[in-house]
Amino acid sequence: MSRNKNKNNKSTILEDFTKEVMNGLAKKRKKLNPTLFYDQKGSELFEQICVQPEYYLTVTEYKIIIENIKLLLKLYDNKEVCIVELGSGSSRKTKILLNYFLEKQNGNLHYFPIDISQEFLYKSSLKLQGDLPKIIIHPIASDYFDGIETVTKFLDSQNNIPNNKLILFLGSSLGNFEPKDAIIFLRSIREKVNKEDSLLIGFDLQKKKNILEAAYNDVEGITAKFNLNILERINKELGGEFNLENFEHLAYYNQLKNRIEMHLISKVKQKVRINKLNQVFVFKKGETILTEYSYKYTLKSIEELANKSNFRVERNFLDNNKWFNIALLTPF
Ligand code: AVJ
Repeated sequence: MSRNKNKNNKSTILEDFTKEVMNGLAKKRKKLNPTLFYDQKGSELFEQICVQPEYYLTVTEYKIIIENIKLLLKLYDNKEVCIVELGSGSSRKTKILLNYFLEKQNGNLHYFPIDISQEFLYKSSLKLQGDLPKIIIHPIASDYFDGIETVTKFLDSQNNIPNNKLILFLGSSLGNFEPKDAIIFLRSIREKVNKEDSLLIGFDLQKKKNILEAAYNDVEGITAKFNLNILERINKELGGEFNLENFEHLAYYNQLKNRIEMHLISKVKQKVRINKLNQVFVFKKGETILTEYSYKYTLKSIEELANKSNFRVERNFLDNNKWFNIALLTPF
């Protein structure tokens, strides 16, 4: 495993975190960006969410991959690729994809997982290396755009590595973006990729409200812990004085906007000091901090999003229930 040097070391990550918290909590409608969930503990909690029975997303996406992998490989019959993954790839679904491509390319496969959670990234890369000894892993601890740029530059400087990228963005993580930001995000990726590159993106599809809401309110309370961990992280890293007993997890489906909204709701009127920010934040009883949107799509909204970002939907891979879709996008 080789580690790419990158400007995003621990101290800049802490600086970014500080800024995000400061700006987010100073807003009239308080919010904390969902990327802030993923410190070491948050990443572990997310892994746990993925195996909760109500959280159908991960298993459904996995099933789609298993059932379509041969079809997918056929599309790459006459070209070799590197695999880039946005978000850390410790999961079964990445492993199976890698394994198949590894075999198809006769043991020649370079894999670039990009993730902001450095510790988690390195740990999962080491584990993956143990499971798939032949694959060449280049973990990149950074945000996605810098990461893709790093990969492209690296590939341009190499002669013996396939130059085409298959970029994975699984788990419906794109759903965290508001529609206009999703377009901006995909357009920025479009600018950083070549004509021959392709994207596999997971999209959670619109479905009955009760199924959606159950997925974000698992009975074990893992999602609640995951949500509240953001306050714990502020306490740990910024000398926050949040009393976690005074906040509660709230997640519901906003049918007008086609999105799950996740909030932390203040159970009481309270003031909370954050020492490193030298600030006190006031919460009314019932006031919330918005922590996440998770948009739900239709095949039509996916196609529109892709086209507005200069991608073509090459293929959709769905499960039988039509609960989830993995779209293969290629540049126009
Ligand atoms: C990783 C953004 C896809 O929105 O379902 C899971 C995160 N939040 N449970 C999602 C999440 C609460 C997840 N994504």
